[in-house]
Amino acid sequence: MEVKFKSVGIVGTGFCVPKKVLTNFDLEKMVDTTDDWIRTRTGIRERRIADSNEATSDLAGKAARKALEDARLNPDEIDLIIVATLSPDMSFPSTACLVQHKLGIKNACAFDLEAACSGFIYGLSVADAFIKSSTYKIALVIGAETFSRIVDWKDRNTCILMGDGAGAVVLREVINGKGILSTYLDADGSGADLMKQPAGGSRLPATEETVKQGLHYFKMQGNEVFKHAVRIMTASTITALKKANLSNEDVDWLIPHQANSRIIQSVAKRLCIPMEKVIVNLDKYGNTTAATIPIALDEAVKQGKIKEEDNVVLVAFGAGLTWGACVLRW
Ligand code: UT7
Repeated sequence: MEVKFKSVGIVGTGFCVPKKVLTNFDLEKMVDTTDDWIRTRTGIRERRIADSNEATSDLAGKAARKALEDARLNPDEIDLIIVATLSPDMSFPSTACLVQHKLGIKNACAFDLEAACSGFIYGLSVADAFIKSSTYKIALVIGAETFSRIVDWKDRNTCILMGDGAGAVVLREVINGKGILSTYLDADGSGADLMKQPAGGSRLPATEETVKQGLHYFKMQGNEVFKHAVRIMTASTITALKKANLSNEDVDWLIPHQANSRIIQSVAKRLCIPMEKVIVNLDKYGNTTAATIPIALDEAVKQGKIKEEDNVVLVAFGAGLTWGACVLRW
């Protein structure tokens, strides 16, 4: 007997970024860098930074409300909440539970998912499987970060890259042939040292010494990460397209993780996808980690770029190492 799975799609999107803008010119006054270096090496012009009283759940909650309005749903219709983040409000309880409470959602399963910059695609894939299997009906998947809290503002190698923000989507059953056509996830823990926050967990709990040594800050071997990112995001896109029985020529929009415009251009070139079909907004927001893809998706939808029946590919790469891609028919 053939088992027919439900089709699951995105029925609402929203995003929220903090008001405060930090430009490359502001950074020139903080570290030994220039606007020209940052723009030409990364494509970033400015990023948003959360206020001291703003945490990840605040940005996530605002993005989620917008996605719910967009989907014309009431909060209590949600029965699954996943927050992808590596900068939660605190280790526990989960940011997903805090968002649930903020939105007044009752009777929902809520948890955080930590897969760094790939977290949103991991979250989509988990929600897709839960809805397909009829375990839950309507999911909120949110990518949200206040990465500025773990950035070393004296380290020019990393502080110029990151920004704060949140993006959210609502997922539910859609008509057959639309929605998520395929997902592909992968990881390789042998690359764990390439990007990490060394202290603050069970290996190196917070002490005066760990704080003094700056071990609670984000550390990255940028060059190595760059090479992996190009290779892996290209291969992930091809794998996810194959799983959806599509080729690069069928792609209407590619939404890559927004880490560096040179990475994005190299991936697009290798995939033979023209840059006109690639969504890029990192000039305005920098790298918002798990939030880059849902923010870029919402902007592209609201700007009228993504239209009904378009084939959209989301692809990301991040600490772990983790990576993944998702093919959607809008
Ligand atoms: O979201 C997770 C995934 N993360 C990423 O994908 C990030 C991937 N990596 C990158 O985007 C790039 O590697 C960076 C933007 C981080 C660095 O760019 P790069 O072209 O790889 O530069 P580099 O690290 O090779 O450094 C080149 C030079 C160095 O000087 P010397 O040794 O050649 O004299 C650096 O010290 O640029 C220097 N440099 C800077 N100069 C001005 C590094 N950062 C800066 C800076 N301003 N902010």
